[in-house]
Amino acid sequence: MAKSKTQFSCTECGNITTKWSGRCEACGEWNTIVEDAPLSTGPSSATLGTSKGRSVPLTDLRTEETPPPRTHSGMAELDRVLGGGLVPASAILVGGDPGIGKSTLLLQAAAQFARQGMKTIYVSGEEASAQVRMRAQRLNLTDAPVQLAAETNLRDILTTLEQEKPQLAIIDSIQTMWSDTVGSAPGSVSQVRAAAHELTSFAKRKGMAVILVGHVTKEGQIAGPRVVEHMVDTVLYFEGERGHQFRILRAVKNRFGPADEIGVFEMTGSGLSEVINPSALFLSDRGEPSPGSVVFAGIEGTRPVLIELQALVAPSPHSQPRRTVVGWDGGRLAMILAVLEARCGIPFTGLDVYLNVAGGMKINEPAADLAVAAALLSAREDAALPADTVVFGEISLSGALRAVGQTENRLKEAQKLGFTTAIAPKGGKSLTVDGIALNRIGDLTGFVGDVFGAG
Ligand code: TYD
Ligand code: MG
Repeated sequence: MAKSKTQFSCTECGNITTKWSGRCEACGEWNTIVEDAPLSTGPSSATLGTSKGRSVPLTDLRTEETPPPRTHSGMAELDRVLGGGLVPASAILVGGDPGIGKSTLLLQAAAQFARQGMKTIYVSGEEASAQVRMRAQRLNLTDAPVQLAAETNLRDILTTLEQEKPQLAIIDSIQTMWSDTVGSAPGSVSQVRAAAHELTSFAKRKGMAVILVGHVTKEGQIAGPRVVEHMVDTVLYFEGERGHQFRILRAVKNRFGPADEIGVFEMTGSGLSEVINPSALFLSDRGEPSPGSVVFAGIEGTRPVLIELQALVAPSPHSQPRRTVVGWDGGRLAMILAVLEARCGIPFTGLDVYLNVAGGMKINEPAADLAVAAALLSAREDAALPADTVVFGEISLSGALRAVGQTENRLKEAQKLGFTTAIAPKGGKSLTVDGIALNRIGDLTGFVGDVFGAG
């Protein structure tokens, strides 16, 4: 056996290095490199292939096999994010901030899958069984045939799973699990990686689906879910703003379905309830048309969603004006401010700018550019856009507007929710949707002139 050498890894992205440094070379995070024990110490002196192995049979891509049967939980939002139900023998990671509602979601999912006849085991490493049962009572799930365990020792858990042979095991959370073959503390990179590896390979071997819960960690004291992202088939993030009741379950990787799909939930006093029509919910608080408020017709995954953007522009008392963004990318905001200034001659110097995506939603689409510009201009000019208008389109650095995908779906959703006008970029194929007047604009200057009367 080779002598084990010290190695270091990043608690954010899991990158392995041989020496410590203040900043991770792979992901650029600071103070996330920690020492860890290597996963295994295999023979290292002889390189593989020096002695002859057996040759592996090769096959082609033809197959007669039917796709795996999927189990639907009955929670439509969850099933869609999973790519159309749960695939047997798959490994799923559900990440999210502490307290966002991961345990609540997974206890509800466990109950649903168990009611569909799947043998389901829920292993909690964070709470005692009594606590989980209390939550189940609050969620009205006590009748569901889910089996509970409060345990953190991986060896005991695997032995139990081996005996019980469940079809689904939920591990809450992966950071509390520890393997006695690894020397470091629970939650360290090597423990988390070892536990995830053991559980996923067990799942693949035995045909059991496994859902791992992972806390997103800000401080890097314990390893975050990104360390295990590459080991699992599906990565879901549960996100939302604290203080808002909306929660978004977002697929960022899925070997069995489209990535970028979202499911929308609402946190209520009795657990998470599904939001079948998110547009209606996101727009429900909208009152009279007010300056700075613009409705963006977006696409999340395969589904159109209307979202309200709010901007506030006010004279700044500071020498460095504020730029504050919630739910959108700050760098992208700076870009749009720069384009407005350089191409349209509308400066924001000396003005504080606040941009907020209503409802705690996070938008990643560049198609929101034009809606953001509209909100900024509307706030700056103190002129409200008509209440029945939706806006979408990408802005390029030249100030030109670029067509975006799925225009028709966006327009249909707007029409469904009672909007009558859409402002969109020129280009792309021409189309009409009944009940929507489409105003196609070529560049940002044209937009300013059209909508705000020459700015
Ligand atoms: P939890 O599922 O424990 O979060 P996580 O596992 O991600 O750490 O949920 C925590 C929050 O959810 C807690 O602050 C209370 C709230 N909550 C409700 O509002 N309603 C409910 O029915 C439940 C069970 C929790
Ligand atoms: Mg929890």
